[in-house]
Amino acid sequence: MASDKIRVLIVDDIAETRENVRKLLQFESDVDVAGVARSGREGIQLAQELDPDVILMDINMPDIDGITATEEIRLKSPHIQVVILSVQGDQNYMRRAMLAGARDFLTKPPMGDELISAIRRAGQMSHVERMKGAKQLGASSVSGGPASMANFAPPSRGKIVTIYSPKGGTGSTTLAVNLAIALNNEDTRTVLVDGNLQFGDVAVFLNEQGKNTILDLAPRVDELEPDVVEDILIKHDASGVRILAAPQRPEMAEKVSAEQFSKVLQFLQGMYAYVVVDTSPILTDVILATIDISDVIVLVTTQEIPAIKNCRLVLDLLTTMGVNKGRVVFAMNRYDKRIAITPDRVSENLKHEVSVVIPFDEKVVITAVNRGVPFMLDGNKMQPVGRGIFSLAEAIRARLSTLEVETETAIKR
Ligand SMILES: Nc1ncnc2c1ncn2[C@@H]1O[C@H](COP(=O)(O)OP(=O)(O)OP(=O)(O)O)[C@@H](O)[C@H]1O
Ligand SMILES: [Mg+2]
Repeated sequence: MASDKIRVLIVDDIAETRENVRKLLQFESDVDVAGVARSGREGIQLAQELDPDVILMDINMPDIDGITATEEIRLKSPHIQVVILSVQGDQNYMRRAMLAGARDFLTKPPMGDELISAIRRAGQMSHVERMKGAKQLGASSVSGGPASMANFAPPSRGKIVTIYSPKGGTGSTTLAVNLAIALNNEDTRTVLVDGNLQFGDVAVFLNEQGKNTILDLAPRVDELEPDVVEDILIKHDASGVRILAAPQRPEMAEKVSAEQFSKVLQFLQGMYAYVVVDTSPILTDVILATIDISDVIVLVTTQEIPAIKNCRLVLDLLTTMGVNKGRVVFAMNRYDKRIAITPDRVSENLKHEVSVVIPFDEKVVITAVNRGVPFMLDGNKMQPVGRGIFSLAEAIRARLSTLEVETETAIKR
C-alpha cells in the first residue's frame, strides 16, 4: 500500500458541509481526504474510481439518497466502510442505514473527536475487510490456517439478537447461553454479551468466571481494534463461543454507560455474525439502548400470568419506542403441557404470535447450570429442551431473512 493513511471520500450535496468536514480532518496525520462528491450518484462513481477506505455519506441528496448509495457501494466493494452523517436523528434512518451496510451513524454537525474516532474505527474495519478479500483471492484453500484478523469479520454486518424478559427467573440467561452455542459455527461466529450488568451470570453458566469483563472495553470504546477486543473476550473452549462478561461486582455496573455499551455491541457486529445479548428485567438505559439497536428481540414469557402481563406491557412500550414488532420473536419457556395456559391462548391474548416453545425440564437445565456445561454441548441437545433451542435459532434466522427482504423492498421504493 502506498500509504498507511485512511483514505476518505466525502459525499454531500452542500458545499459548506463538505468544506467543514474537510477542515475538521486536515490536521489529522493519519487521514487523507481522497475526494469529494456532490451527490449519491457521483459518490457511487468516485467510490469505484478512488477505492477509499471510508466514505462520509449524507442521507438526503437530490439524485440518489445516501442509504441507496451505501447499499450499492457496499455491494460492489464490501471493504469500503460508510459512516452516515445526517441531520436526521431519526432512529428509523439509523436502522435503515445500518441494514444497508453503514458502519456508523453521526448527527450533523459532528464533533471533531467523534468524527475522527468514527473514521479510525471504520478505517480499521476496512483494513480487516481488505485483508480478508486478499486472503480469499490468494492461494487455494486457507481454511484451518492460523487465526488472523481476517477471521474476525463476518461477510456482512453481524446481527444483534437480544434476549429479554420483563420478569425475573423466566430463563433469559438459559436461553441466551444455549442459543449462542446453537448459532455459533465456522461460518457464523457468535459472541455472547452479558447485558445484566449488575448480576450477570453468563460467565458462571459457562464456568468462565473471574476473567476479563466489559469494564476492560467500555473506557476505550472509541479506540477499539479487533485484535484488542478479541484478547478481552473470553474464549469458551468447549463451544468456541466468545463471551463478554458483566462486571464482577454490582456496584461496578454504573461505570458502563448506555452509549458505551451500544458502541461495543456495534463494534462486535463488525467482527461476529451474531451478537447474542442477555439482559435483566429492569429496563435500564443500557437495556433500552440495546433493544433499540437489536435486529431481533427474543421476548421471553412463561405460562405464569405475571410474566404474560409484563410481556404485554413490553409490547406496548416497544410500540411507543417505534420498534417494529416484526423484530420481536415471542418465546414461551418452561412450557408444561399440563398447565392450561397454552401458547395459542397467549398469542391470541397479546396479539403477537408465540413462535417458539421451550419445554420445562428441570433436571436437564439445572444440572447443566450447576456443572457449568450448557445442555447444548452434550447429549441433552437432542432432548425436547435442546430441540426447543434449535427451533429458537431457526425462528431467529427466518425472522432475520424476512426483515432483510422487507428492508430491501422499503429502500427500493
Ligand atoms: N426450560 C426450562 N426448564 C426448566 N427450568 C428452567 C428452564 N429454563 C430455565 N429454567 C430454570 O429457571 C431458573 C431461571 O433461569 P435463568 O437464570 O436462565 O433465568 P433468568 O431469566 O436469566 O433469571 P434472572 O432474572 O435471575 O436473570 C433457573 O433455575 C433455571 O435452571
Ligand atoms: Mg439471567
